[in-house]
Amino acid sequence: MNKEVFTLTSPDGNTMELPVRTGTAGPDVVEIGRLYAEQGVFTYDPGFVSTGSCDSEITFIDGNEGVLMYRGYPVEQLAKHSNFVEVAHLLLYGELPSADELAGFETSITRHSMLNEGMLRFFNGFRYDAHPMAVVSAVVGSMSAYYHDTMDVNNAEARDVFTHRIIAKLPTIAAAAHKLTAGQPFIYPRNDLNYAENFLRMLFAVPAEEYEIDEVAAKALDLLFILHADHEQNCSTSTVRMAGSSGANPYSAIAAGISALWGPAHGGANEAVLRMLKEIGNAKNIPKYVEKAKDKDDPYRLMGFGHRVYKNFDPRATIIREMCHKVLEKMGRTDSPLFELALELEQVALQDDYFVEKNLYPNVDFYSGIIYRALGIPTSMFTVMFAIGRTVGWVAHWREMITDPHGRISRPRQLYSGPAKRDYVAVEKR
Ligand code: CMC
Repeated sequence: MNKEVFTLTSPDGNTMELPVRTGTAGPDVVEIGRLYAEQGVFTYDPGFVSTGSCDSEITFIDGNEGVLMYRGYPVEQLAKHSNFVEVAHLLLYGELPSADELAGFETSITRHSMLNEGMLRFFNGFRYDAHPMAVVSAVVGSMSAYYHDTMDVNNAEARDVFTHRIIAKLPTIAAAAHKLTAGQPFIYPRNDLNYAENFLRMLFAVPAEEYEIDEVAAKALDLLFILHADHEQNCSTSTVRMAGSSGANPYSAIAAGISALWGPAHGGANEAVLRMLKEIGNAKNIPKYVEKAKDKDDPYRLMGFGHRVYKNFDPRATIIREMCHKVLEKMGRTDSPLFELALELEQVALQDDYFVEKNLYPNVDFYSGIIYRALGIPTSMFTVMFAIGRTVGWVAHWREMITDPHGRISRPRQLYSGPAKRDYVAVEKR
């Protein structure tokens, strides 16, 4: 391929030169924006397998090499040396903060963690057994009815307040959604605790006794938030960008992202993995379920396996797998039958020709649920945990999208395959 232009030849011999752009890393991209105006054709790429939808400076993934970097920093280094709030600053503002910047950012995130009391009453309207993802997406959407000062997407200060507010309040909203199902009173945030500690306390404390924070649990959670913080143009992030591209208020855009995340092919997979492991139940049943997953006539899939981008290994899964051992050991659950079953299933799938040929490896969701479970987090909250971490990425992408001078409303085209023009037929003649 010529590095400057890509020459396209139409069936009738017309040629068109399309500019090629080179990024910092990753494949070049061919600009096709003029294709329709000049050749009268659209491109067709369902699922956006070969389509770049934007120019982004936030996250880089090399799916063949198993590389994930936030603003150029390998996720392994951030997981080892950083913490979630610092990583949030990095993703949002592009650089690791100085000590003063970090202290200011931490204070702001801490001080924004309370909810408007009126919003708390909103929770009472949900059914007692509502899924927490339904509650969280609805409450985040409803924030646009409470925080009117941050609705102007063109105001930089309003964008900053929105940013700190949503990142600070997501754990509070998530914990409140859990308390609703548990039938327990809502626990207010506390400013002397860090992000993960505060969340654990809001989730598990009850007014009747002191809650003791487990440092291993808080560290494990912080690490999981880091690993989930961003993943470039995934389904929910693209949803946030698309919803926000119309100029809709940012709370609605994030609520749209939360809804997209809920699906089992995306963030809902962590919950689905746990359900799958429970259904398999015993190692002797593994071959039966593996065969089911391979059967072309059966829609069943092994949850937590495969990824659109990673075709070698998911670097997040490697880090989480190691942490699984530590957490289970600390929690005294090394003999966790579900973890044992997960390890066996992993081994069987990694040696099976079908999974090897299709490059289907365990992804981040395969192990995260086992850790959440060891921490006592209920299965229905697993995808909410993903949402807390990913909110940082959604906001970083929303900010990049809304300030892009070349930004336009997202509006894909289609190949129409419905009926050709036909005339209306009166109801008595049909
Ligand atoms: N079990 C069995 N077969 C599978 C699986 C699986 N988990 N995943 C993909 N395949 C097969 C699929 O049937 C297809 O076969 P064929 O080429 O014969 O038609 C082939 O592998 C390619 O799959 P695809 O659906 O075309 O790939 P995709 O890139 O569109 O989908 C995926 C990626 C993650 C949605 C898919 O692998 C999947 O459904 N995995 C299970 C759900 C899951 O674990 N999701 C979490 C993703 S990681 C966290 C996140 O990003 O949210």
